[in-house]
Amino acid sequence: MPVIAVVNRKGGSGKSTIATHIAAYCTHQNIGVMLGDVDRQQSTRSWLKLREQRHPQAKPILGWAVNQSSALRAPTGVSHVVLDTPGGLYGLDLARVVMFADAIIMPICNSVFDRDSAAQCWDELKILPRIATGRCKLAVVGMRVDHRTLDSAALTQWANERGLPYLGALRDAPTYVQCIEQGVTLFDLPKETVSQDLAEWQPIVDWLGPVFFPAPPTVSHPVQPPRQISMGNETIMSARVGSLQPVQQSLVQGERLAQKPTYAPNQPAAPEKRGGLLEALGIPSFLRRK
Ligand SMILES: Nc1ncnc2c1ncn2[C@@H]1O[C@H](COP(=O)(O)OP(=O)(O)O)[C@@H](O)[C@H]1O
Ligand SMILES: [Mg+2]
Repeated sequence: MPVIAVVNRKGGSGKSTIATHIAAYCTHQNIGVMLGDVDRQQSTRSWLKLREQRHPQAKPILGWAVNQSSALRAPTGVSHVVLDTPGGLYGLDLARVVMFADAIIMPICNSVFDRDSAAQCWDELKILPRIATGRCKLAVVGMRVDHRTLDSAALTQWANERGLPYLGALRDAPTYVQCIEQGVTLFDLPKETVSQDLAEWQPIVDWLGPVFFPAPPTVSHPVQPPRQISMGNETIMSARVGSLQPVQQSLVQGERLAQKPTYAPNQPAAPEKRGGLLEALGIPSFLRRK
C-alpha cells in the first residue's frame, strides 16, 4: 500500500498542513485514503474530527483509531496512507517511519535554524537503506515562503546542494491557517478562490503522481543489494549491507524492526537512537512490510 510521509524534525514547519492537504487531494482523485497521525499533538486527528463535524458532505478521509496497531487489513476502500509525523523525530523512530514510507515530503521554512535542522534530519535519513536505494524517495517543499524575498532561492540552493528535488514553495497565506481551523484544505474550496495557491501544489502532486497511481507490478524482483545512486551531481550513498549497523541491515532486507539496536561495546548507548516515540501511537500492522 503506497504510504506518503511528511517528515521534518522541526515543529511548526508545516507537516500537518501538508499531510492534510495531500490526504484531501487523494479523496478528490477518488483515492481511498487514510490519514495517519503519529504525532502526540494529534493535530491531524483533531482536524479530521472537525472535518466530519462541520463538513459531513466533504469527501471522506479515514483516520486511524488508537487500537488500529493490531489491524492486519486496511479498512475497506483504503488504498493509500498519508502519515503525519511529530517534530523531534530521531534515530529508530525516524527509521521506522522510513520503513513504512514510499515517498517523503520534507517541508522547510526559510530560516537558518530551519535549514540547519533539516540538514541534520537529511544527514540521518540519507544513510537509511530505503532512502539511499531510492525505494523511498524524498523531496523538499519550501514552506510559508514570502515570494517578495529570496526565501525560495535559498531553499532551492539548500536542496540542490544535497541533490534533492525541490518542488517549489507554498507561500505564506492566511488561507492555510483558516483552512486548518475549519477542517478543510485548499482542495475543498472553490478553485477560483484559491487558484494562485493551488498552482503551487501542482509540482507536489505531480511528483507524487507515481505514488498516487503506481504502475501495476509486472514481474517480481528479488531484493537487490543497495547500490550507488546519483541525484543530480551528487552521489548520495554507497550502502554495502556489510557496512551497515544490524538494525539497518534488517531494513535492507525489508524486515520488521523487531530487534533492539546494538551499539559498539564501550560506547554509551546514544539516547537519540532509541525508539519509543512512535510506539505509544501504534502504526497499523497492515502497513508493515513483509
Ligand atoms: N503556507 C502557510 N501559510 C501560512 N500559515 C501556514 C502555512 N503552512 C502552515 N501554516 C501555519 O503554520 C502553523 C504550523 O503548521 P503545522 O502544519 O501545524 O506545522 P507542524 O505540523 O510541522 O508542526 C499552523 O498554524 C499552520 O496553520
Ligand atoms: Mg503537526
